[in-house]
Amino acid sequence: MEKPSSVSRRSLLLTAAASSLLAACGGGGGGGGFSGSGGGGVSSSSSSSSSSSSSSSSSSSSSSSLPDPATAPALKTHFAANFKVGLVADDWISGDTTISALVTKHASSMTAESVMKANPIGVSEGVYDFSHADALVTFCQANGIALRGHNLLWYQTSPSWFFDGDATAANYKDIVKARLVKYITDVVTHFKGQVYCWDVVNEVVSDDASSNYRNSQWYQIFGKDYIDYAFQAARAADPTVQLFINEYSTEYPDKLGRLMAIVDDLISRGIPIDGVGHQLHNNLSVPISGVGDALAAVEARHLINHITELDMSVFSDSTSTTLSSSALATALQTQALNYRALFNLFVAHPSVQSVTMWGTSDAHSWLNSWPITRTDYPLLFDRSANPKSAFWAVVDPTFVP
Ligand code: XIL
Repeated sequence: MEKPSSVSRRSLLLTAAASSLLAACGGGGGGGGFSGSGGGGVSSSSSSSSSSSSSSSSSSSSSSSLPDPATAPALKTHFAANFKVGLVADDWISGDTTISALVTKHASSMTAESVMKANPIGVSEGVYDFSHADALVTFCQANGIALRGHNLLWYQTSPSWFFDGDATAANYKDIVKARLVKYITDVVTHFKGQVYCWDVVNEVVSDDASSNYRNSQWYQIFGKDYIDYAFQAARAADPTVQLFINEYSTEYPDKLGRLMAIVDDLISRGIPIDGVGHQLHNNLSVPISGVGDALAAVEARHLINHITELDMSVFSDSTSTTLSSSALATALQTQALNYRALFNLFVAHPSVQSVTMWGTSDAHSWLNSWPITRTDYPLLFDRSANPKSAFWAVVDPTFVP
C-alpha cells in the first residue's frame, strides 16, 4: 500500500493532499475558521473591478485599485526584524528573469520545490545527482539568499533502492538503516554551510487517531526508530545546521496532538531536534486560532517555529475548476484578510524565524496541478508577478482589500 513506486507515490500524494484539503475545509475539527482578528478597520468594499474575472485566464488577478507595484516594499526588508521570508522554486529560476527579480527583491530564504528531495538526488545507492540542487545553491549564494534544506526523508520521494532486498532476511533492517544513514550523511555533508536548516523528516505523522505515526514503508520496517536514525545522522554530519520535523495540518488540534507527542518523545530521549515546520497548505477556511495554538505548542517545548509551505487556495473543495468573477473577487478579499491575520500572528511570535510561501507568483504554484488541474490564486503575487491584495494587506495595515 505504501510502496514508494512512482505509481503508488502519485496516489499517495493524492491521498495526503485530499486529507490536507479535508482538514483545510474543517474536516480536522480545527479552530473554527477565519477569526477576522487581523482586519481592524477593514471594510467590505467591493473589488468588483478585479481584472481576474476569468479563472481560466493567465492575466493578472490584481484589482485595478491596487497601489503601483513599483512602490511595493521588499518583504525581506519589511519583516527583517521578525523572520526570514521565503519563496520556492527550483533551478529553472536562473533562466526566468521575472521570477528571479521577484525572488531577489523579496526573499531572504529559498526552498527547493523538488531538486533537494531524495528523489531526484538519490539516483542509486551511493550515487547522487546534485546538479540541479547545486545550481539552486549557486543562485542563492549569488543573490545573498539563505537556503532551507527540503527534505531528507519523505515517504513520497524515497527511492525504491532504499528498500531493495529480502525483507524477511535477518539483516534486512540493518541494510536499510545503513542506506538511510549513508544517504543522510552524504547529503548533509554535501550541503554543509550551504543550508541553514533541514526538514529531516517530512509528513511522518498519522492523519488518523489509530497511531501517532504515519504507516509508511519506513514505519512498517522500523517502527518509529527510523526518525531517530534520520535526526542522529543529520546531526552527526553537521553539528550546527538546524534540524526540523515538517508536517501539514498542524493547525488542527488532533494532528497537532499527534505531532507534539512525537516531538516530546524525541526530546525525552535526547534526539537532536531544533524546530517544527508547519506547512500551512490551506484554503480560505484557514483556522487562524489553530495556527496560533500550533505555534504556542512548539514554543512551550523551547523549539523554533518555521512556516514552511504557506499557500491559500481560493477553492474549498478538490473538484471545482472555476469560480465566477464575483466569487473570485470575494475570495481574493477574504484571502487578503486571512494573510494579514496570519502574518500578524507570525510577527507576534518571536519563535517564528522563517516564513516561506510555497511558490512565487500564482503562475508558479503546485495548486494549479494539484489535487486537480485548475487555475488557482494561492500566493501573494499574481500571474504577472505583481503584488495582489493579499500582499498589500500584509505590508500595509491601512490597506483595504
Ligand atoms: C510538492 C511540489 O510542490 C510538487 O511540484 C511536487 O510534484 C510534489 O511535491 N508537502 C511538501 C512538499 O512537503 O514537498 C510538496 O511539494 C507539497 C506538499
